[in-house]
Formats: sequence, C-alpha cells, structure tokens
Amino acid sequence: MPIPAPDRFTMSLGEAIYSMRAIRRFRPKEIEERDLRDILDAARQAPNGGNAQPWRFLLVTDVEKRARLGELYREAWWTKRKDEGINGPEDIPAGKGVRQSAMRLADEIGEAPALVLVCSNSRGEGAAQSVIPSVQNLLLAARAIGVGGTITTLHSIVEERVHQLFDIPAEARVVYCVPLGYPRGRFGPVNRKPLSEVAAVNSWTNTPDWMAT
Ligand SMILES: Cc1cc2nc3c(=O)[nH]c(=O)nc-3n(C[C@H](O)[C@H](O)[C@H](O)COP(=O)(O)O)c2cc1C
Repeated sequence: MPIPAPDRFTMSLGEAIYSMRAIRRFRPKEIEERDLRDILDAARQAPNGGNAQPWRFLLVTDVEKRARLGELYREAWWTKRKDEGINGPEDIPAGKGVRQSAMRLADEIGEAPALVLVCSNSRGEGAAQSVIPSVQNLLLAARAIGVGGTITTLHSIVEERVHQLFDIPAEARVVYCVPLGYPRGRFGPVNRKPLSEVAAVNSWTNTPDWMAT
C-alpha cells in the first residue's frame, strides 16, 4: 500500500511557509510520478468558489513540449518587458535582482523537469480567482518534499499557440505556468516587509505595538 499523500508532507506547515522561496534554477533530475501526483493532489484540495473546482492542472513532462513551451514563454516574457519599455538584457540592472533571475528563467524554463499549466476551465474572472489558492497548495506541497518552483504568467501574444500545443479548449484559460524541479544552488530565507508595515487593526493606519514583534 503506498503512503497516502497527506502523510508524505511531514515538513511542518510553519517551516514550509517560512522557507518557501521562488525557485528558478533546477537540477536536471526528474521528479518521480508519485511526487508529481501528490503535488497535484494537494493542489486540488484548495478552497475555491462554490466548490466548483474550475481548474485543470496540465502537467508537462514531455521533452519536446517543454522545449516548445520554453520558447513561447521566452517570447511572452520579453513581450511583457517590451510593454514596460525594457527592450533587452542591457536594460535590466546586473546583479542578483528578481529581474535578472526572471530573465534567466525565461531562457531556461523549458529545461525545468516539469511544468504545470494551471488552467481555469472557463474564461470568467471567478474561475481564474478560484485557481489562485490551488497554486499556493501546489507550491507548499512541493516545498515539503524538496521540490521548488515559482508562479509565472504568460502573455496573450502566445495564447493561441499554447492552446494549440496542448489541445486546450478555447473556453479554458492558462492562468499560471509553474516550473517545478529540485533546486540548484542555495536559496536564502524568505525576505518580506515587517508585519507592522503591511497590516493594521480596525483602521488602515492603526498598527499596535504587538505587531512589531
Ligand atoms: C502573480 C505572480 C506572478 C509572477 N510572475 C513571475 C514571472 O513571470 N516570472 C518569475 O520569474 N517570477 C514570477 N513570480 C514570482 C515572484 O517574482 C516571487 O514570488 C517574488 O519575487 C518573491 O520571491 P521570493 O519568495 O523568492 O522572495 C510571480 C509571482 C506571482 C505571485
């Protein structure tokens, strides 16, 4: 009897939440089907509007399809940058910033051992919103078994070709594209603004002292 999925995620919830970074560099090691299954199974436990579960998790492991998706992702990524007035690598500050690693991901995403196209099965805004919590479940479950990934989005410029590549029906929508793999290199702790800067009690600016600790 295989171990039931919930019993495999033994990392504490606290550790998973407080150590889950956006992972964009992957070792070229395949993720076992059992692990992929359990990661997707965790995704489908997520809250969603009216329990309609308007999602479809399209897992991409085929080498050629990953490579083609990688090309489309790269085109989408640079189209988004051009929309922002960024025309090429020379416009992206050097260093260890998010933009640099996102740019590298745009070159390498097709080599991630697995990608999940997190889709809604209709084009309504409600369906897309319902999909969002499932991605957090997916990433936390992955984190708990040592697999990393990050949320990314595509661009309408590649939509038709992505639909064609994976036989996605016109009424469905790809909400996120999540590369998954075992992290390559080290990743530091989560770095976020202090709670007192992002939360308040009873009124927008009221941040009591207990929030600071
Ligand atoms: C809605 C959304 C869209 C994102 N899009 C991208 C993306 O297109 N490319 C990328 O590399 N990371 C993307 N990210 C990942 C964020 O850059 C990352 O979560 C953030 O920088 C925090 O990273 P950290 O947890 O490692 O600190 C996205 C995250 C979210 C929630």
